[in-house]
Amino acid sequence: MAKYRIAALPGDGTGPEVLVEGLKVLEAAAKKTAFTYDLETYDLGGDRYLRTGETLPDSVLEELRSFDAIYLAAIGHPDVQPGILERGILLKIRFEFDQYINLRPVKLYPNVYTPIKDKTEADIDFVVVRENCGGLYRGKGAAHDKGTHDEVATQEMIYSRGEVDRCLSYAFEYTKRRNKTNTLTLCGKTNVLTHVYELWERAFHEMGDRRYRDIKREYAHVDAICMWMVKNPEWFDVIVTGNMFGDIITDLGAMVQGGMGLAAGANINPKSTSMFEPIGGSAPKYTGQGTINPIACIAAGQMMLDHLGEEVAAELVEDAIIKFLASGKLKGMSPAEIKASGFSTAKIGDAVAEIVASA
Ligand code: IPM
Ligand code: MN
Repeated sequence: MAKYRIAALPGDGTGPEVLVEGLKVLEAAAKKTAFTYDLETYDLGGDRYLRTGETLPDSVLEELRSFDAIYLAAIGHPDVQPGILERGILLKIRFEFDQYINLRPVKLYPNVYTPIKDKTEADIDFVVVRENCGGLYRGKGAAHDKGTHDEVATQEMIYSRGEVDRCLSYAFEYTKRRNKTNTLTLCGKTNVLTHVYELWERAFHEMGDRRYRDIKREYAHVDAICMWMVKNPEWFDVIVTGNMFGDIITDLGAMVQGGMGLAAGANINPKSTSMFEPIGGSAPKYTGQGTINPIACIAAGQMMLDHLGEEVAAELVEDAIIKFLASGKLKGMSPAEIKASGFSTAKIGDAVAEIVASA
């Protein structure tokens, strides 16, 4: 029987509340199929930072390296200056573990309200493969003559051919494995960012011609893709893009699929420790109210299972999410609607875990 070591990072705000539910469902899936796991919890986040001044000590980073997966809920604290925890914890893990893929499915589930008129589950089901370590996120740049009238600030979008190729290769393989319409769309900005996205586009077509003749290739500028994601989401199967564009379009994707309470993501290094997280923030103002939707966190757990090779368990979890939502018991996904439906964060977790257990 497979046994995994999983590091749990509840983080800040409502993070701990949703992670409890994710773990509840994970446990139900483990009981139902044939795997076990050891769980270790790390208190990384704003409280620890305020107490000790530490974000992510090197010793903890090294410990995390030994796990099969990291299950993270949310980082972000109202008393900590924005950026410190994000760069010190979340981005540090992504970069140090070279989790160069950020996988973000955009899928509309039954009874979930999408703000896009006349679109249904049949129309909204695509995946964004976001490059997760390079580009503008590398942090290269400088401020010159700060505070003067002549001040100049730069922030460089840097990509090596190797970084582009490994991301494209993952995206092509993913598209093949997904086998939906076998279409991979490159999202870029070749008309303006003539160096970086020229490289992406050339590498995209060279790889496609050489290795993936069965995958249909499309290209869209990032601004246009924002339009198409709203107007014709059914056009997309898999979208691949650089770090910054991927960050932006996946927030749009989260809204298209019905909100942050449903959006999950995976930070993947195919050969090393990967990290799974709901893509929303810590929503501090809802802390302790039990009204945050845990589905995104449960879905992140599903992605973790899939990545670990527990496909059957992953499918059980997704089926349970779908069944629960299809029951129509939830009259909306927002905290107010969850409350009005007579549900809570814990009750949603219970319901999904129960469906897994009785599958
Ligand atoms: C995300 C987040 C992060 C990012 C922030 C918190 C640094 O927005 O995971 O999309 O920009 O990648
Ligand atoms: Mn983001």
